[in-house]
Amino acid sequence: MSWLPATRALSCVVLLLLLVVAVAPPASAAAITRGDFPTGFVFGTGSSAYQIEGAVAEDGRKPSIWDTFTHSGYSPGGATADVTADQYHKYKEDVKLLSEMGVDAYRFSIAWPRLIPDGRGAVNAKGLEYYNNLINELLRHGIQPHVTVYHFDLPQALQDEYNGMLSRKFIDDYTVYADVCFKNFGDRVKYWSTLNEPNIEPIGGYDQGFFPPQRCSLPFGISCNNGNSTTEPYIVTHHLLLAHASAVSLYKEKYQDKQGGKIGLTLLGSWNKPATQTPEDIAAAARMNDFHIGWYMHPLVHGDYPPVMRKNVGSRLPSFTAEELKRVLGSFDFVGFNHYAASYVKADLSKLDQKLRDYMGDAAVRFESVPFFDLKNQSSPWVLREMLEHLQVKYKNPVVMIHENGAASVADPSGDKALDDEFRSRYLQDYIEATLQSSRNGSNVQGYFVWSFVDMFEFLFGYRMGFGLYGVDFNSEERTRYRRHSAKWYAGFLRGGELRPVAVPGQAYSQ
Ligand SMILES: *[C@@H]1O[C@H](CO)[C@@H](O)[C@H](O)[C@H]1NC(C)=O
Ligand SMILES: *[C@@H]1O[C@H](CO)[C@@H](O)[C@H](O)[C@H]1NC(C)=O
Ligand SMILES: *[C@@H]1O[C@H](CO)[C@@H](O)[C@H](O)[C@H]1NC(C)=O
Repeated sequence: MSWLPATRALSCVVLLLLLVVAVAPPASAAAITRGDFPTGFVFGTGSSAYQIEGAVAEDGRKPSIWDTFTHSGYSPGGATADVTADQYHKYKEDVKLLSEMGVDAYRFSIAWPRLIPDGRGAVNAKGLEYYNNLINELLRHGIQPHVTVYHFDLPQALQDEYNGMLSRKFIDDYTVYADVCFKNFGDRVKYWSTLNEPNIEPIGGYDQGFFPPQRCSLPFGISCNNGNSTTEPYIVTHHLLLAHASAVSLYKEKYQDKQGGKIGLTLLGSWNKPATQTPEDIAAAARMNDFHIGWYMHPLVHGDYPPVMRKNVGSRLPSFTAEELKRVLGSFDFVGFNHYAASYVKADLSKLDQKLRDYMGDAAVRFESVPFFDLKNQSSPWVLREMLEHLQVKYKNPVVMIHENGAASVADPSGDKALDDEFRSRYLQDYIEATLQSSRNGSNVQGYFVWSFVDMFEFLFGYRMGFGLYGVDFNSEERTRYRRHSAKWYAGFLRGGELRPVAVPGQAYSQ
């Protein structure tokens, strides 16, 4: 899970709840195999640099805004990713595990502060060496690298110098960084995602302020010292969109013909449902989907932000110049979606009467369920089908990669192998089946990546919840991996086995 917007208080409540995994009815009788998917459909699993690498102060890497944040004690349990799953030292062993599992692809991100430690300027030779090693090791095992250029770990130096993404200078520095990636790795990397979840990073970092760089203003955020929740999330998103478009046009002009890769970006794909079937709530859910998904997809596919955002946000929503819009429009070969759950929303039109409004106020909705992710009720595969259909109908059926999908369980940091995860196998089976149904129904979905490869630092949960196909013993110096039921199950499917109901359909864990 890349990022989960909920207040800290809310997340604590969630963590205290008994985690009971809902059991869906059995999959349809006809056995599905991997061969039923369209030719070229990619199955993989993923991670991100800050979450999995560790070695945060090694070989020239400098801090990112996430190091600063975790070192100030803001993560659950005071967790940091200083060591986490230690992939920096264990990448060879990890590639072997990926190869044994039989995945086509591994999704990972490059740490900007490892490659260009000060954010701009000198490229770190040790950083180049590490990613070259990882990429080569993957290719040696026949695994495609699918690389995210930026996954939340902005170099702290750029935050200090000009407030990071709040400044237009970010666009230039990001483009130069992306250029270094394309130039050095693009001969071997054929799938690039420019940004991970840029539709949610601005909410956590600049509206509610509970994630770095913790900018916000009262009454919207918690412990805000600076920032402006009514304006900054929109400015940051504008700069992220322009940075994305700038990197894509650079790639297309300078590299794509020669290197033959594809480029896109990865959004959080939470699907908003009406809490009741009143016309007001149905409209509210549509509005929230425009704010959440349309914030990026509308400019990318239709040009400009969604009309409802123009109307409700007004002069606080930045404008594109004609030239910028030309760059943004159509600037993707595929769109990645990280999908976990539905959110249930109710209309709250009175919010529009408030003079000072943040994102949720402008959307004029309130959440009736835990927003974006519900630990008590993780498996609703039909929600994924609805979201894919929405993309098909509303955004001209783009090529979609499901870049993250997976189930959380209370972590077993001691490496207690007795905690097995049949429920996760079951979850994956249901979602892979839903993906096939959408594909058969005309969705242009072309990839599916399980989140996550191994247990690792989670942005919202620290080490309290894990999503890994493999568990990690975080108490051992070696960060020993152990194979879970779900890894065996996924391997069976990837080797051509039938997608069939898991014998033990569900399991309840208590904290
Ligand atoms: C945030 O910006 C709005 C719009 O420019 C302004 O009215 C408001 O006073 C600002 N709030 C803070 C806390 O600076
Ligand atoms: C779980 O979520 C799904 C979809 O969001 C919903 O239809 C279902 O009623 C929920 N189940 C429970 C037990 O809350
Ligand atoms: C298939 O697509 C049609 C047309 O978009 C839609 O009405 C239907 O609900 C979809 N079915 C599934 C299973 O996604």
